[in-house]
Amino acid sequence: MPKPKVFVTRTIPESGLRLLQQHCQVKIYPRDQVIPKKELLKEVKSCDALLCLLTDNINREVIDANPKLKIISNYAIGFNNIDVKYATKKNIPVTNTPGRAIVDAVAEHTFALILAVCRRIAEADRFTRVGKYHGWEPQLLMGMELVGKTIGIVGLGRIGSGVARRAGKGLGMKVVYYDAKRNKEFETEFTAEYVPLPQLLKTADVVSLHLPLLPTTHHLIGKKELSLMKKTAYLINTSRGAVVDEKVLVQALTKKQIAGAGLDVYEFEPKLTTGLQKLGNVVLTPHIASATIEARSEMSRDAAENILAVLRGKKPPFLLNPEVYDKR
Ligand code: GLV
Repeated sequence: MPKPKVFVTRTIPESGLRLLQQHCQVKIYPRDQVIPKKELLKEVKSCDALLCLLTDNINREVIDANPKLKIISNYAIGFNNIDVKYATKKNIPVTNTPGRAIVDAVAEHTFALILAVCRRIAEADRFTRVGKYHGWEPQLLMGMELVGKTIGIVGLGRIGSGVARRAGKGLGMKVVYYDAKRNKEFETEFTAEYVPLPQLLKTADVVSLHLPLLPTTHHLIGKKELSLMKKTAYLINTSRGAVVDEKVLVQALTKKQIAGAGLDVYEFEPKLTTGLQKLGNVVLTPHIASATIEARSEMSRDAAENILAVLRGKKPPFLLNPEVYDKR
């Protein structure tokens, strides 16, 4: 029997590719760039399994290109790049990679951004490099202390909880959170308080976003929400750019309506909203929150394991649309 064909839209860490190569014919898009739509459509037509990235738009057209496609395996924890509803209608399992390492990597990067903005690390680095440091000064580049301050976690999934745990237990911050679902066990364990979103925005010194991008979370943080935040507060986003109305955020930062922001994701990435890159009170990273060797290797393995399970007739470990199996 010929081996099943897997198409990978861009090269990823070897761990998963090696697994796939043991059992499948693996074709990887050879260029180190996002695969153009035309080529993606051509490759999808002739593969059994698709391993794609968050930069690939897996819409109806792509899904319709191969009615026999056995799985769409996303190398990411987020999946807003895939029309999961349509794939479900077409009975195609869709999977993601929400393993332990990605959760820790994103939670750690969230703190890299929090500390970088609150302690003005990027600004201080720029200052030092250009030769502006002429000796210790009593009021040079003063920032905000975190101990005793309030962090507001918006979205208490595994990443949000990881951030809350580190903030409360590690940095001595007070934790408040908002989520569609209340988690009383979590509240007791981490002395966290559940508050409605407007109250969170009014009270938090650091607001950190940990939500998937859905129609209901698009522009969740807009003009009104930013106006509720304290003038001294910071906004951190390691989730998806469009959860924030970026144009309005740039205006709020320019007017110093809030103190600063740490962003890893952008509404129109890789493009930045005009004005964002000129602001001194923001720290910008290029969507690298999960970019640890550990997380990216685990994601590669998990994306491969999802495919191998489906090809063996089993339910994949990280299935996003279980309805597909309920119908079988
Ligand atoms: C990164 O943003 C991911 O969704 O994995």
